[in-house]
Amino acid sequence: MSTTLDPQDTCVLVTGGAGFIGSHTVVELLQGGYRVVVVDDLSNSSEVALERVKQIVGEDAAENLTFYQANVLDREAMERIFTEHRIDRVIHFAGFKAVGESVKKPIEYYHNNIENTLVLVDVMRNHGCKSIIFSSSSTVYGDPDSLPLTEESPKKACTNPYGWTKWMIEQILTDLHTADPEWDVVILRYFNPIGAHESGLIGEDPKGIPNNLVPYVAQVAVGKLAAVQVFGDDYPTPDGTGVRDYIHVVDLARGHVAALNWMNGREGVEIFNLGTGKGTSVLEVIRAFSKACGKDLPYVIKPRRGGDIAENFGDASKAEREMGWKAQYNIDDMCRDSWNWQSHNPDGFRS
Ligand code: UFG
Repeated sequence: MSTTLDPQDTCVLVTGGAGFIGSHTVVELLQGGYRVVVVDDLSNSSEVALERVKQIVGEDAAENLTFYQANVLDREAMERIFTEHRIDRVIHFAGFKAVGESVKKPIEYYHNNIENTLVLVDVMRNHGCKSIIFSSSSTVYGDPDSLPLTEESPKKACTNPYGWTKWMIEQILTDLHTADPEWDVVILRYFNPIGAHESGLIGEDPKGIPNNLVPYVAQVAVGKLAAVQVFGDDYPTPDGTGVRDYIHVVDLARGHVAALNWMNGREGVEIFNLGTGKGTSVLEVIRAFSKACGKDLPYVIKPRRGGDIAENFGDASKAEREMGWKAQYNIDDMCRDSWNWQSHNPDGFRS
């Protein structure tokens, strides 16, 4: 059974803690007084991100951070981590996340994302740690029948293997709790995380040409790409372009701290949407980013991208009601902070 703990007595294992959402969450955890162990294989992230995290939180809090470069699939490495630290809670981010790539590499995606979760929960169980927060996605709602999406909205067929891995891991964690009610599972379904830490020291650092809208727009803004490609302007939305619920990554990171606080000593499975509840179109994003960087960003209208839905936004009132968490930042704040990060780090953590 999980016990109630104060932050300074809580050791949180963060898998994928050097990544985009992971690094921002580690900042909030350290600033909240938690002790943090990060495991990350750096396959899609950089150790520089963790150096920057230490810079943001300062020397004292940075002493509470330990880093292991390892893959969560590596059972021996995970056993070692759990032996060397008394891990109280786990936040599980580590996983492949590129939607398009997952269509081409289903074996790699299913193997990596699902198997690493199975190794993780098995090692957790062996060490008597049964509290986990899982990084899920609104993609599990598929093409929604009605909006906004609530946690009661049905899970529907996903359009790609990446989405299915989130769908299935949610089920695996739920089954785990059915088998052993002492498990304490929080599933956080994110909408579209963008933005960066206000310091400009950490942010999203995609490899190659970005697949997601805002990193792409940011690279147009710094002159690395010529024009934004708008995938479809004939959707049944107010301006014809796709609508999403963008959420500032710092709000999202704070959602994890709120979840840790909320789950403290509880047992069960609980699902929370983390979004702003507000939909923003592709053209609105381009306008907000243009305002942030002080120039009109060029764009071209392209055909729809396969697998995209017209509109997606969530109702996050359960998270507010239960955990006292609510998104604070709007789309202008998100674009301002993305621009601040991108303009100071045009080559991401490589510069
Ligand atoms: N878009 C463009 N041009 C681009 C990239 C995207 O017009 O270059 C459009 C898309 O068509 C869509 C919107 O911008 O309308 C957002 O697209 P993203 O690729 O940024 O995000 P998605 O909504 O497709 O996917 C995101 C995450 C997934 C997650 C999903 C959940 O990337 O991991 O949200 O809804 F599963």
